Amino acid sequence: MIPPAAPPAHTPASTQSRVLAAGARPMVEAQRVSVRYGKHVAVEDVTVSIGRQQITALVGPSGCGKTSFLGTLNRLSDLIPGCEVAGRVSVDGEDIRARGFDLVGLRRRVGMIFQKPNPFPLSVRRNLEFPLREHGVRDRARVAEVVEQSLRNVGLWAEVKDRLDAPALALSGGQQQRLCIARALALEPDVLLMDEPCSALDPLSSGVVEDLIGQLRAQYTVLIVTHNLAQARRIADNVALFWAQGGPGRLVEHAPTEAFFESPRDPLTIAYVGGLRG
Ligand SMILES: Nc1ncnc2c1ncn2[C@@H]1O[C@H](COP(=O)(O)OP(=O)(O)O)[C@@H](O)[C@H]1O
Ligand SMILES: [Mg+2]
Repeated sequence: MIPPAAPPAHTPASTQSRVLAAGARPMVEAQRVSVRYGKHVAVEDVTVSIGRQQITALVGPSGCGKTSFLGTLNRLSDLIPGCEVAGRVSVDGEDIRARGFDLVGLRRRVGMIFQKPNPFPLSVRRNLEFPLREHGVRDRARVAEVVEQSLRNVGLWAEVKDRLDAPALALSGGQQQRLCIARALALEPDVLLMDEPCSALDPLSSGVVEDLIGQLRAQYTVLIVTHNLAQARRIADNVALFWAQGGPGRLVEHAPTEAFFESPRDPLTIAYVGGLRG
């Protein structure tokens, strides 16, 4: 057991007050979170609060620990051999790293979308039915209803309603990614973690998926890793910059999107977004 975290030793240039209104209850909270792989510390001392029904973009150079950090939020990091997480992570106020925490429930409440679409090698319909059944939804009429609604929610229904029994892997990359989002949404999550969800897609599909992510804000708390600063600016409410300066990745700045781009405080953020202003 890792002992409870002490209060942060320092507050990054981010100051939470720039992001969360005083008294607002965050949906996701990380307190002094570190991630190591064996001896290699990938993420150190990240403290951040993520507001409800907002899109937060995680940006920063490759290798600065964005994926590692994301993995702590649904405990996917538990599955990586040699990976150790320290600190406290809470989702909707509950400590998800507490002993005996309901992991199956967590994976339902915190959905994950990866860079490369990963539909099951099953039919379109079965991709949605399978997780629903796993999570105890058995009523056939209800299952059919959720399948249709989930596909409608990602704008895929009209495209696939006549090929529900065709293999999901026969869909285009963009359609597969939207199916993966539908699969996560079918379980009615609170939080969606997206790790570069558009970067393996052609520009047109990427635009369609980006528009869809923008619409999710109304209902879900979304954390999205993106290398595309223009995309972060278009869809995110807040932006968090991670950086590894020859050491572990740290959170450098977390600010509302406009402030992040227009009045960044940390010199690293100024340099990072500087390219955009050029
Ligand atoms: N499974 C792993 N085993 C060992 N080292 C890893 C593993 N995954 C990531 N790392 C290391 O952790 C650091 C952060 O990686 P990652 O979280 O993937 O960064 P990002 O997503 O920002 O590119 C890198 O130095 C990377 O090499
Ligand atoms: Mg990554």
